[in-house]
Amino acid sequence: MHMGRVRDWFPLALLAATCLAALGGIVQTAAAESNGLAPTPPMGWNDWYSSYCNVNAQLVELTAQEMVNNGMKAAGYDYVNVDDCWMAPSRDAAGNLVPDPTRFPNGIASVAAYVHSLGMKLGIYEDAGTTTCAHFPGSYGYEAQDAATFAAWGVDYVKYDRCNIPYGDFPGESEQQVQQVLYTRMSNALKATGHNIVFSMCNPDPGDDPWLWGAPISNLWRTTTDIEDNFGSMLGNFEGTVGLYRDAGPGAWNDPDLLQIGNGGGSLGEYTSEFSLWAEMAAPLIASTNIGTLTAAERAIYENPNVIAVDQDPLGQAGVPISRADGLWVMTKQLSDGSRAVLLFNSNNSAATIATTATAVGLPGRHVYRMQNLWTNAITETGGGITAFVPGHGVAMFRVSVESKRRATKLSPHTVLSLNAADTQLDAGQSTTLYESLTNNGTSDVKGVALSLAARPGWQVKPLGPARLPLLKPGRRFTVGYRITAPASGPPLAMSIFSGAASFDPPDGKRTSSARLGELVSAPVSRPLATADVTTHPASFGASGRAFAISSRGLGVYNPPFGAASTDSYAAIYKPGGAGRTSSAEVTVTADPAAGPEGGAGLIERDRMAGPKRPPAAVVLYVSGNATIVMAWNASGGADVDQHSAVPSVTVAAPVGLRLVRRDHVYAGYYSTDRGKTWNPVGTVTVAASASAGKQDVGVFHASGLSTWTTTATFTNLRVR
Ligand code: GLA
Repeated sequence: MHMGRVRDWFPLALLAATCLAALGGIVQTAAAESNGLAPTPPMGWNDWYSSYCNVNAQLVELTAQEMVNNGMKAAGYDYVNVDDCWMAPSRDAAGNLVPDPTRFPNGIASVAAYVHSLGMKLGIYEDAGTTTCAHFPGSYGYEAQDAATFAAWGVDYVKYDRCNIPYGDFPGESEQQVQQVLYTRMSNALKATGHNIVFSMCNPDPGDDPWLWGAPISNLWRTTTDIEDNFGSMLGNFEGTVGLYRDAGPGAWNDPDLLQIGNGGGSLGEYTSEFSLWAEMAAPLIASTNIGTLTAAERAIYENPNVIAVDQDPLGQAGVPISRADGLWVMTKQLSDGSRAVLLFNSNNSAATIATTATAVGLPGRHVYRMQNLWTNAITETGGGITAFVPGHGVAMFRVSVESKRRATKLSPHTVLSLNAADTQLDAGQSTTLYESLTNNGTSDVKGVALSLAARPGWQVKPLGPARLPLLKPGRRFTVGYRITAPASGPPLAMSIFSGAASFDPPDGKRTSSARLGELVSAPVSRPLATADVTTHPASFGASGRAFAISSRGLGVYNPPFGAASTDSYAAIYKPGGAGRTSSAEVTVTADPAAGPEGGAGLIERDRMAGPKRPPAAVVLYVSGNATIVMAWNASGGADVDQHSAVPSVTVAAPVGLRLVRRDHVYAGYYSTDRGKTWNPVGTVTVAASASAGKQDVGVFHASGLSTWTTTATFTNLRVR
């Protein structure tokens, strides 16, 4: 369920001019809220993504207690924040806000008292408009009264949203100007209570740009659209925030939204990235998940003291991105002790080496440096190179400082094992060369190096040179090449993992190291089928027997909310001219990891699939990233899909059967969740005559739904009659 308004826009990456300016530590600090609160980014919990509108007193109190028990409170998480839906539908006769009597039977003050008794603080949610996003009473016109109510209840933090603002009451003023007026009103009202109340602005729509005006009146402001529990959304919010580092500082923070760790939509590696990126950006660390069901590994992410210390560093500088080439990010954050928190982030799907240097991250040159790996705790020394082989969607994070030569001799040299393939994608049976290297970034010798490589069954691996080296000098790299050949047959698309291993003797004892690289192998699509890629990021296709797979990144076929024209971006496997005027197409979607209403996988019919960038559109029937069945079509001619209908109450999980029956310009869509025993109607639609003349191209398509991530959908049993 998603109670918020639809925010389908995408934040533009704001990195353009960020690079070198801040490297000498010249980061401008914003003028902060005069309430003097939040000298470091707030840490805590918010119920929204675990409970949405089911929040209640018991949940809040149990969560607070659990945070004491599980160590989160001790780690610094001290705010317990209630989001939307805590209220009764209307104010009382005196105009006061009323907590929902069933879910908060003893009111908010009693919850605040309980939370305070644990040494924690209570946050609450309101809205600058007439109603909140979930349509409970807003504070518009009641700012002073509501602020006084919150203070009387003992509330310590207010998140203030921007739904349903009556802009018509402010003729001639822009939405941003009106927000400035209303947010200033609430900011002043909260200060007037004399209580310490953190003010958190939530106005992340395009044009709100709160980082330009929020610092004097608030402690934090949302920078980006509502986060979702998937890597692509997390990446979008990171990219939309990272360039705003100049606007953050003590008491005034960029807020890329609540942490998703624990909600199930990311891998541990992806959640580790989320936590590291948020800490590097000096973002609030507010967990929005069911705290009681966190696994030990998820808790270890939330409670990593090294990374929390980066976020909470008293200098209060947000990390500066110094490069982002090809989706490989290097960031540096100056810390109060003179060290730098260096983040190497790989936003791509496959592992890669990311390298920078001590001087590039802002440390003085010509030294030996101490590197603490903030996730493994390993401490090494480097002569300047800072390198890691970083898994796809993963991070490496170090705290780097100048070290004395004498102390550095007691540390192991910083070594990196990395894998790199000449081709990252092969057809079945094809060969390429894979290189495995060990690099010594330290200032002392590494001895007795032995490298090895393991592959999945079916692969042939031939080393092209010796895999042992007696001595690897400082600053040198030892590389072994291997000729690798993919199995002759396999699934349509498969990621095969290669594992490299190294053993060697640094001065303080024997070490081993390992690295993993994926190689995408596809069974090529052959005639009579063809492929079409209407995306900006190359898609991959595979067909094997009755199974198909499409790996692609794209927003989808129908993108209604903004702009008149749809921004088609999807990839398809299709039969050219396969659908006659009276025809029927059927497929089973077996996996569909997409996001949002436009992302998804399903059937597509249009009259020129591989035509110009925006071919005339006809009709699509698909399982959306929201797991509902959607039919979208071109009703009015031209190049766009302009009509959209979803089966309202259906939520489906793959495998889902889809059937599209054509009678000239009329298409009927059906779906089945019981392997074709029953077919349920989705709709019968009439497509513009110009868009559905004669024979149509017909096939399967996939769009990931976000411009930031690539996902793979699979299909079986495509039949066209
Ligand atoms: C908006 C906010 C979310 C959440 C919901 C509650 O969508 O951006 O963080 O507070 O409202 O309705």
